Amino acid sequence: MSTLPVVTTVRELQAQADAERAAGRRIALVPTMGALHAGHLSLVTEARRQADVVWMSIFVNPTQFNDPKDFEGYPVDMKRDLALAAEHGVDLVFSPLAAELYPEGAQTWVEVSELAEPLCGASRPGHFRGVTTVVAKLLLAARPHVAVFGQKDFQQCAVIRRMASDLGFGVEIVAAPTVREPDGLALSSRNVHLGPEARRQALALVRALDAAEQAVAQGERGRDALLAGVHAEIGQASLAQIDYAEIRDPETLEISPGQLAGPSLLALAVNFAADGPGQGAPVRLIDNRVLTPGPAA
Ligand code: PAF
Repeated sequence: MSTLPVVTTVRELQAQADAERAAGRRIALVPTMGALHAGHLSLVTEARRQADVVWMSIFVNPTQFNDPKDFEGYPVDMKRDLALAAEHGVDLVFSPLAAELYPEGAQTWVEVSELAEPLCGASRPGHFRGVTTVVAKLLLAARPHVAVFGQKDFQQCAVIRRMASDLGFGVEIVAAPTVREPDGLALSSRNVHLGPEARRQALALVRALDAAEQAVAQGERGRDALLAGVHAEIGQASLAQIDYAEIRDPETLEISPGQLAGPSLLALAVNFAADGPGQGAPVRLIDNRVLTPGPAA
């Protein structure tokens, strides 16, 4: 039986944070929406490296879902999540009700501009506004020294880092490496919605990233040529429809120049059509790789 403390109010969490800080302990927060998988647990491991106490928030944030069906269908299994969190040494879970974070009449949003506009920001209007608003609330509640996020959500990390810096949260934002299945597919809570054929074809993402990385290693610098390779690779997957495939500056997220001159983010979002019995909406997967051209030969 787990003795993992579960806090549900902001006030109680702030009191605990004050006590930890007064005792000189460093707090790491791992924000999640539950449906924990090995990717989340690797964030816990990273958090443990960074701090004395590791807190996890589990909150399915309604304001970041631009599609209400996506929110309704989001997998929730609190019992399992708490058991996994306890097993992996989380010291406390913050699991508020929606009304605790969004009290009746709430009308305050936290919004990052340019960084949140392209890529997922363009395909999912309002998504990042929901993310930054809830993460700001979580940071104010947990008062962590460090907060750990997954690098699979590259743009999310960039947007949150900007927000934390612009608003002077005094928290370090750490991006932990993407965890993958043995065959290379990036772990995601959405993977369970892939039917067997879509699951097989989903490897097109990592194949496209690998091919681009290899092309850069062999001297290719042309942005459009690299993207053509990505389209060709993903085009072989009959269930896949590219939402975006772009190469951008990893800091500013501006489109990279025609010839890559330095580290460049290849970011992909691909929708996979349903192929299993009872399967509904397409499953949207994202992945990315920072391409690093070596010095000119
Ligand atoms: O990455 C996620 O799971 C969510 O976007 C986050 C950061 C927990 C905010 O709800």
